[in-house]
Amino acid sequence: MATLVTGGAGYIGSHTAVALHESGREVVLLDNFSNSCAEAVDAIRALTTSGMAFVKADLRDRDALDSVFDSHEITEVIHFAAFKAVGESVEKPLDYYDNNLGSTIGLARAMVDHGVESLVFSSSCTVYGQPDVIPVTESAPTGAESPYGWTKYMSEQILRDACAALPLNTILLRYFNPVGAHESGTIGEDPNGIPNNLVPFVMQVAVGRLEKLRVFGSDYNTPDGTAIRDYIHVVDLAEGHVAALEALAGGLSGCNAVNLGTGVGSTVLEVVAAASDAVGHHIPSEIVDRRAGDIEKIWADPAHATEMLGWTSSRDIHDMMRDHWNWQRSNPNGYKS
Ligand code: UD1
Repeated sequence: MATLVTGGAGYIGSHTAVALHESGREVVLLDNFSNSCAEAVDAIRALTTSGMAFVKADLRDRDALDSVFDSHEITEVIHFAAFKAVGESVEKPLDYYDNNLGSTIGLARAMVDHGVESLVFSSSCTVYGQPDVIPVTESAPTGAESPYGWTKYMSEQILRDACAALPLNTILLRYFNPVGAHESGTIGEDPNGIPNNLVPFVMQVAVGRLEKLRVFGSDYNTPDGTAIRDYIHVVDLAEGHVAALEALAGGLSGCNAVNLGTGVGSTVLEVVAAASDAVGHHIPSEIVDRRAGDIEKIWADPAHATEMLGWTSSRDIHDMMRDHWNWQRSNPNGYKS
């Protein structure tokens, strides 16, 4: 029996592969390296077992998928593989719809054809936009602001319809803002080019690859004027995926949306201060205009995750910054260091 992890060489996939291995599962990693690399697979194997199976394939390639299901006894799947850059999705909408929806449909179809019923899907709190009520619960209205966001929204809908009609049970995990790294410092986030996300950017400033952080907006209606997000340690997130698989194995059926967040919001300036503490020196920054498309504030109501999965986060913003810095410091240029 094995767990298939699509996008298994990526940031969240790699940490989840380690957590799955620690839970006693056999893992099959699948990735096309569109935003990851073979070195990540080596690093996962070094933390787990040199025998962890890896398949280089695109999920839109049905023959390749059939051969994965034929050659391993897959009983459950976690689907991470997707493009995820909001700005790029605006420039290349068809690439995003083709890749993200084509992969989800192709995978779901192959699962049904091969009799595999348990799926955990990588969704995002981006489907809430700026919620009216915070902390946000799973019953809040959903929508999207970018082609990337729509691919998450539409994938959720596709899976909801598929679960209603077919022998398929799914948990849609809506992640808040994953940061941090495995405590070993040997796997972590390795963005292509200049990072779009806050913490990778801050850490590249700290390590000297970038000159200074630009803080997008200081006139939000928050205690220090900067925007609030619910940052969650990637290892907590990984453990949430193991808990989700266990809930499905325990008989949870249908299609279920679950927030994975801490329930704690941090402003941009609070993140920078925590990062400076972890790094041990000041991180240069300047305030600039708001970034188009950003929301003011969001954090999760994580109660449903606790009820449904028996999971809660246990690592705080200081743990996140310590571990992210440990990865960045040990690998200043990511996996190619
Ligand atoms: C973004 C995506 C979201 C995606 C998530 C993945 C948008 C609008 N949303 O979330 O769909 O799921 O990444 O992790 O892009 N900030 C700065 N300076 C920077 C970078 C960020 O001040 O150089 C601020 C942002 O304005 C924001 C906060 O830091 O207030 C977090 O930004 P980011 O890490 O990009 O995440 P989100 O925008 O929340």
